[in-house]
Amino acid sequence: MKFSILFFSSIAIILARSTGAVPIIKKADIDLVVLQFALTLEHLENVFYKKALSTLPEYKFLAAGFTREYYQNLKYIAHDEEAHVKLLTDGITTAGGMPVAACTYDFPITDVKSFIGLSSILEGVGTSAYLGSAPLITSKDYLAVAGSILVAEALHTSMQRQALHRVPSANPYGTPLTPSPVYTLAAAFIKSCPSTNMALPFTAFPALTFNAEKPTLASISISIDIGNKQSSNKPAPVKPLEFSVVETLPSDFFVTFVNGLEVVSIKPTSVSGKTFSATPPDTFGGQTYALVTSVNMTSGPIADSGILFGPAILEITPRSPNYDVNYQ
Ligand SMILES: *[C@@H]1O[C@H](CO)[C@@H](O)[C@H](O)[C@H]1NC(C)=O
Repeated sequence: MKFSILFFSSIAIILARSTGAVPIIKKADIDLVVLQFALTLEHLENVFYKKALSTLPEYKFLAAGFTREYYQNLKYIAHDEEAHVKLLTDGITTAGGMPVAACTYDFPITDVKSFIGLSSILEGVGTSAYLGSAPLITSKDYLAVAGSILVAEALHTSMQRQALHRVPSANPYGTPLTPSPVYTLAAAFIKSCPSTNMALPFTAFPALTFNAEKPTLASISISIDIGNKQSSNKPAPVKPLEFSVVETLPSDFFVTFVNGLEVVSIKPTSVSGKTFSATPPDTFGGQTYALVTSVNMTSGPIADSGILFGPAILEITPRSPNYDVNYQ
């Protein structure tokens, strides 16, 4: 893949760190920032699969009930992530930038199950990241490349969701997530990065966590399965979820849920100290992001200036599929 040389950017311009306000980036430089951001995420995924494949040999997957074919497909995913790192590294170099290098990470992988759970989430976040960054890209050539990578991430997501017995296509639409919320999620796994890496002009917000009874990933409290039973047309009401934050909550705030193309802010219930409850809309399905925001948001993209905490990730079982055979 050839990247067109559209601009030679001075790294210094991009370094302006955001303090919650909209980062000041010259229009022509935003493409390079997005490429560096994409590479940051691809490094994370690449190292994640290399760690998994080097610590979880095939027999462990077979013992956990997975097939040889499944394990072979994991190798294809690792192959893809490595290819993405190489492509973006070359593209950034061609565009006159210094590609960010891999960081050191801390992935809570202890066994096959925790690996697949985290893989599904990371691939979902990767897909959301490309989708949420797409409107920022000014070059159509880069946009086409980003779209191509997005497809690969979505296919990976689908495979891992299937492995977890989650509906692969739990929503007619992908869920876009803007860079700072994605950066917040990625930062949870990053221990340290080379000091020579360009500082990304995005904000890592303070954490929002679930006080779930059974979080699937206790150590990072990043995702739980909730709600709607697939077997019934009448989904069980999604029960209020309890969340907590690390700093004092303002007296007035919203809980904003993002799923597919929908962004819905609701008022929390039973706020107590750093803990509150909130119920996501029962029409939501699949990987969903929850944020504490200072404003009522009714559509994306979510402005950084309105975000106070999060995102947290939750997995909502979609309602039974509904369609009309006569609609054709
Ligand atoms: C947010 O704004 C929408 C559109 O104006 C409104 O329908 C909704 O009730 C508001 N939500 C809250 C929690 O205030």
